Amino acid sequence: MAASEEFDTFDLDPDDFRELGYRTVDVIADYFAGVDDFPVFPGRAQSTVEAAFDESIPSSGQDPAAIVEEWPEKVLPNTTHTGSPRYFGFVMGSGTMMGVLAEALAASVNVNAGGWKPAPAATEIERQTVEWIAEMLDYPTDCGGLFTSGGTMANLTAILTGLRATAGYDTKARGLQTGERPGPYTIYMADHEGHSSVYRVAEILGLGADAVRLVPSRDDFTMDVDALEARLDADAAAGDVPFCVVGQVGSINAGAIDPLDEIADVCAERDLWFHADGAIGAVGAILPDKRPQYAGLERADSVTLDPHKWLYVPYECGCVLVRDESLLPEAFAMDAAYLQGTMRTPYEGFDYYEHGPQMSRGFRALKVWMSLKHYGVEGYRTLLSQNVRCAEHLDARVRESDDFVALHEPNLHVYSFQYAPADLQDAPAGDDERREALDAYLDELNQRIADGIQLSGVAFVMTTSMHDRTVLRLSICSHRTTLDDVDETFETLREIGGQVDDELREGLDVGA
Ligand SMILES: Cc1ncc(COP(=O)(O)O)c(C=O)c1O
Repeated sequence: MAASEEFDTFDLDPDDFRELGYRTVDVIADYFAGVDDFPVFPGRAQSTVEAAFDESIPSSGQDPAAIVEEWPEKVLPNTTHTGSPRYFGFVMGSGTMMGVLAEALAASVNVNAGGWKPAPAATEIERQTVEWIAEMLDYPTDCGGLFTSGGTMANLTAILTGLRATAGYDTKARGLQTGERPGPYTIYMADHEGHSSVYRVAEILGLGADAVRLVPSRDDFTMDVDALEARLDADAAAGDVPFCVVGQVGSINAGAIDPLDEIADVCAERDLWFHADGAIGAVGAILPDKRPQYAGLERADSVTLDPHKWLYVPYECGCVLVRDESLLPEAFAMDAAYLQGTMRTPYEGFDYYEHGPQMSRGFRALKVWMSLKHYGVEGYRTLLSQNVRCAEHLDARVRESDDFVALHEPNLHVYSFQYAPADLQDAPAGDDERREALDAYLDELNQRIADGIQLSGVAFVMTTSMHDRTVLRLSICSHRTTLDDVDETFETLREIGGQVDDELREGLDVGA
């Protein structure tokens, strides 16, 4: 018999791996120790970053130690530091340390959490963690749910499940291109604060973005439920088929929470799917002083929340809860011989590929499970309330300043406001031309301030639109942010605002 051939694996020798691993952990630990010292945004042109990584594909293997060294040498200097206490862009969590370790541990076993057999522990950890999250939200703990790549995919999972459950015929088999469809299906959300991901979901589902109908908001940026009812009536009379209302649980600009109980009433009366988009704020339900605002969340048919936002877990990690667990496999179950492959035995459990859109899926639950164990609910309560305190502090600074304008009451961790020098805030009554000129000027000014602070490296602040005006917006979603960070950011915004205003005034013709 021929001698067996020697196959290469290119795996590292265990001692070499250990040494490289120690070096990698040192690099990460040094990073955490100094994350505050990096410019939050590298402020390098795209061409510079592109050039840093522009090399031809390696045809033969390189030294693993040298590859790891490229991290501190090349990657970190070209990275935006979301983990900085002064990163306030989009809605991005700061990344838990346990989450970092969890990512490495999960990769080491490399399980596919799409199925129970390939991932028994991962599946049960995910089920347990989903149950814990439901408990934190006071949502029924016998709900279904799973971790997704993020809030958009959580919203997709929820809204598709809702469509399947409410459509009145088998949309899974026959889709939306059938005469059985009673009319165009429509989705409802608040006009000012409804999130763009819902449009994306409507587009992906083939409903089209026009299927998303906007409901007027109240002065506090929450949905006007009387207006919702009026819109539902009008659309139904016009032949549309409303099937889903999306309530915001922590909105994108103001951290507002829609009147969930009232929306739940409307949905119950009309047999509509009530989806609560709590990507930003659902976990705020653990804060006793905020809890009353969450009344009715437990009545939602589905809830989105993003551990990679306000639970600070490293990317990617969204989560969807569905009150009636059986509806998930109704929406996502698949049938193929190679997926079953075993007889029913005690050595199997449910397969997550039947509960969501992904088949193969990573062990995302581990980083949530480990982070929750590390902090406990109490720890999270402390961290979340610190963020809320920071938003309140920022609001106080804005309100006591002549050159800033408050736009809403602070709630949760997202806060938007405007830089407006005192003499440019008001136009004489009835002088629309002057008002328009001031608005255009202030839009430009606020955009330039955000760009300026980003390039300064001190903090990362972005703009948004509030009532069609360009304004500054901070999402204080870092477990490392302190009141000092808020003060430093605020003072820097003011300083840059003063400088830019000096430069711009004459050119933009708003007077001295
Ligand atoms: C309210 C809301 N829903 C959904 C999303 C989408 O989440 P993701 O970016 O994780 O897909 C976001 C993102 O900011 C959000 O704020």
